[in-house]
Amino acid sequence: MTKLCEHLPFVQLAEQYGTPLYVYSQNALTQAYQHYVHAFSGCRPLICYAVKANGNLSIIKHFAQLGSGFDTVSGGEIARVLAAGGDASKIIFSGVGKTVAEMEFALNAGIKCFNVESLPELDRLNEVAARLDKIAPISLRINPDVDAKTHPYISTGLKANKFGIAMADAERAYQHAHSLKNLRIVGIDCHIGSQLTDLSPLVEACERMLNLVDKLATQGIVFEHIDLGGGVGIVYKDENVPDLAQYAAAVEKMLAGRNLSLVLEPGRSLVGNAGTLVTRVEYVKHGEEKNFVVVDAAMNDLMRPALYQAYHHIENAAENGQPEIVADVVGAICETGDFIGKERKIAAQQGDLLLVRSAGAYAASMASNYNARCRAAEVLVNGDTARLVRKRETLDDLLANERDLL
Ligand code: LLP
Repeated sequence: MTKLCEHLPFVQLAEQYGTPLYVYSQNALTQAYQHYVHAFSGCRPLICYAVKANGNLSIIKHFAQLGSGFDTVSGGEIARVLAAGGDASKIIFSGVGKTVAEMEFALNAGIKCFNVESLPELDRLNEVAARLDKIAPISLRINPDVDAKTHPYISTGLKANKFGIAMADAERAYQHAHSLKNLRIVGIDCHIGSQLTDLSPLVEACERMLNLVDKLATQGIVFEHIDLGGGVGIVYKDENVPDLAQYAAAVEKMLAGRNLSLVLEPGRSLVGNAGTLVTRVEYVKHGEEKNFVVVDAAMNDLMRPALYQAYHHIENAAENGQPEIVADVVGAICETGDFIGKERKIAAQQGDLLLVRSAGAYAASMASNYNARCRAAEVLVNGDTARLVRKRETLDDLLANERDLL
């Protein structure tokens, strides 16, 4: 049985475009986006796709055409959204380290909102806006001190994390923002972490934020929107992920009777399960203690297993009842941490194609050239057509920026 992305066999795509290859289903992107829109339709939502999950221009363009806004964290991501034809007035700019140049760029582009993460950032933004004779729309990212119960590297809403302004300092920070002439307060936001498999921290964060909204209202500080940050987790293996309709119902109830529109910044749940990394088996190696399936993708193409001990399902692209072995699926990089999966039961022979699932989010966007490897090509499939939306890098690309050789 040969496996398909929409109507196209992965085997055919691999033959046409080579491996390793990221393959995305356009239909899956659309469905994931519409799922958010429908679930939250009672909350006047602006879904701002978190570009960091996958910054491919065609993916951004597709979401822009569906009406999406964008959550960005660098001048580079803003430039990507603009290059793909995204609407600047739907761009949110998050992140703890915005530089003067990035602020200027975003102000000149006319973005919807700066999610400001500290008092010194407020002062800097006010100065930059004054110099450009602009008014910067702002929201303060409040750290609600809620445990998102996810991997510690992607948990962001605890006191010990570098993100946001502490709840205890929030009133003072908003008062300060209110006093600055070139800022306009438009919102309040939080983001507690990623790959959330439990709904309760999200609901608790929302409750805490709304308590703060009420407190600030008594001081004359009112908002146009509340931004609850990233989306829900996805199924990589057998996780029980939160039900979007249930999350939406809880938020809708909490926002009822308030004049607040809703912003969400989902990344992973819009693209994660729309993508597959296709890789070819180079060797099957029987070690003394373990078997290894050495593939042509590696940690530079998919960092998540090495960085977070993340699980990605791996299967043969053409399962015909071949014998299975138990093996670690590894790349060619000179690090023991370079693995795609450990102790997997899999049918894999030299030359076979393997499908590494859930590779639409934080895969290509976290890829590197480590070990002087060319970054892989990306293909977007729509029905029975495939577009090469990013070409494979070449050895010339790897050398292109180096100058002044000794
Ligand atoms: N908004 C902000 C401010 C964020 O920091 C993030 C993710 C998102 C939205 C999107 O969250 P999502 O809907 O994707 O959960 N590389 C890690 C994930 C890092 C997430 C960082 N922030 C991984 O591969 O698991």
